[in-house]
Amino acid sequence: MSKNYYITTPIYYPSAKPHMGHAYSSIIADFFARFKKIDGHKVYFLTGTDEHGLKIQRAAEKNNKSPKLFCDEISKIFEDLTKTLNLSNTDFIRTTELRHKKSVQNLWNILEKNKQIYLSKYSGWYSVSDEAFYNEDEVEEKNGAKISKTSGSFVEWVEEESFFFKLSEWEKPLLKFYDKNKKFILPESRRNEVISFVKSGLKDLSVSRKTFSWGIKVPSDDKHVVYVWLDALTNYLSSLKYPNKNNDLYKSFWPADLHIIGKDILRFHAIYWPAFLLAANIEPPKRVYGHGWILSGDEKMSKSKGNILDPLEIINIYGLDCLRYYLLKEVSFGNDGNISEEKLENCINSDLANNYGNLCQRVLSFAEKNCSSIIPKHEFNNDDLIILNSISDLDKIRSFIDNQDINQYMSFIVDRLFASNKYFNDQEPWKRKEDKLRLSTIVYTAIELIRKITILLYPVMPQTTLKVLNIFNIKENKIDFSSLKINEFLIEGFKINKLDILFKKIEK
Ligand code: MSP
Repeated sequence: MSKNYYITTPIYYPSAKPHMGHAYSSIIADFFARFKKIDGHKVYFLTGTDEHGLKIQRAAEKNNKSPKLFCDEISKIFEDLTKTLNLSNTDFIRTTELRHKKSVQNLWNILEKNKQIYLSKYSGWYSVSDEAFYNEDEVEEKNGAKISKTSGSFVEWVEEESFFFKLSEWEKPLLKFYDKNKKFILPESRRNEVISFVKSGLKDLSVSRKTFSWGIKVPSDDKHVVYVWLDALTNYLSSLKYPNKNNDLYKSFWPADLHIIGKDILRFHAIYWPAFLLAANIEPPKRVYGHGWILSGDEKMSKSKGNILDPLEIINIYGLDCLRYYLLKEVSFGNDGNISEEKLENCINSDLANNYGNLCQRVLSFAEKNCSSIIPKHEFNNDDLIILNSISDLDKIRSFIDNQDINQYMSFIVDRLFASNKYFNDQEPWKRKEDKLRLSTIVYTAIELIRKITILLYPVMPQTTLKVLNIFNIKENKIDFSSLKINEFLIEGFKINKLDILFKKIEK
């Protein structure tokens, strides 16, 4: 098994400030990145901003700024958000950087050399908001305006000279590729969507624009700029120093293990991207996961709809880790999820304060009173071993992660939290004052359970779990998922450091 792991978020349009949908994609990717890190992988985690194209050019014009200045300002906000969200990203790429331009132009040259690109004329519908071309049967009329049936965004008629990519030639190879790589597109329902779209026939794709200038110039014809999606997708290669395929980064991390994206950009990642790569003799990524939308009421949360929940405000009120936990646990991964402050508060109270926080507080204060916070002696009986061993099956937990089954992973944790609290109740250590060894074994077991569950929670809530792991002096770079196998990790005689209250219950 490869011990390198390359994961990406979509690169965000800096056309307006980030919202919860963006935070969601990033937190998901960070969750996987952190899990893989504690499971012994060398992780490369990429995020960034997608800065070219008409959408950005128009947003800049509206703000009376040059596109570059406009992008500098908003990209900085996205970069700051990576810190606010405590992302463990390795790189932050901007498509206006020189390293990216070189990479895109190189890919273009290869496609041209491989006779995959030709000059013609595009006439059809274009949505600036989606930066997407739509066929006649993909648009409809609403209140006198033409909109895309899938995204609901306005489309405008475009007629201009354009370079085309021979996408139609890749219909069969793509279907073969999907068939050979059954888990290339997840979840399954989205895979089926993509396959039926490809089977219905692919037309050649316009890959350059001529009527505006904010983009990367086509190397062989500088009157054209490269279509923003061909430009943007290439970011996943640019960060690894492509076109230099002989450098360590590229050799270690390409093909990417996982592109985390929203379902609205599936077509670009699951059809165009592997087609461009196959056409350039580059191996496609191993997996594209299209998650659902964060909804506000019944609608997608989006800048253009103005119904955004500001992640910064939520973090200021409730704290980052509560938000991370809530999004990971309560949104059914792969489906749309309706989020609200009320549900977030319920989740904080029931799962974090009453379940996890309670387990830590009651066990540690009992240990303080009865064992002076020193890891005591133990001699396990069957009850102890059953509960400890229920958090030892590394392969089962790894399979949740490798199938991107976040909800199973989270249910497993919640279930083990309940079981651990129940264990402590049922064992009634407060009634075992006469039997010192039994009392101390229960304390030992309960503290081991806290250690194990806290390690599982680390990718979800890094800051909080680091506080808990600090009671054992376990530092971030020493967290080791495989130590869950061990039931006797804690050494008798070790004095546990103090732990402050983790979560305050929210009064309602
Ligand atoms: N720039 C392109 C991506 C290029 S990747 C090579 C883009 N940018 S975006 O800023 O519009 O969206 C970025 C991501 O945020 C997408 O995956 C999109 O699905 C996600 N979200 C935007 N709004 C969302 C919700 N309301 N809910 C969940 N995610 C959504 O597309």
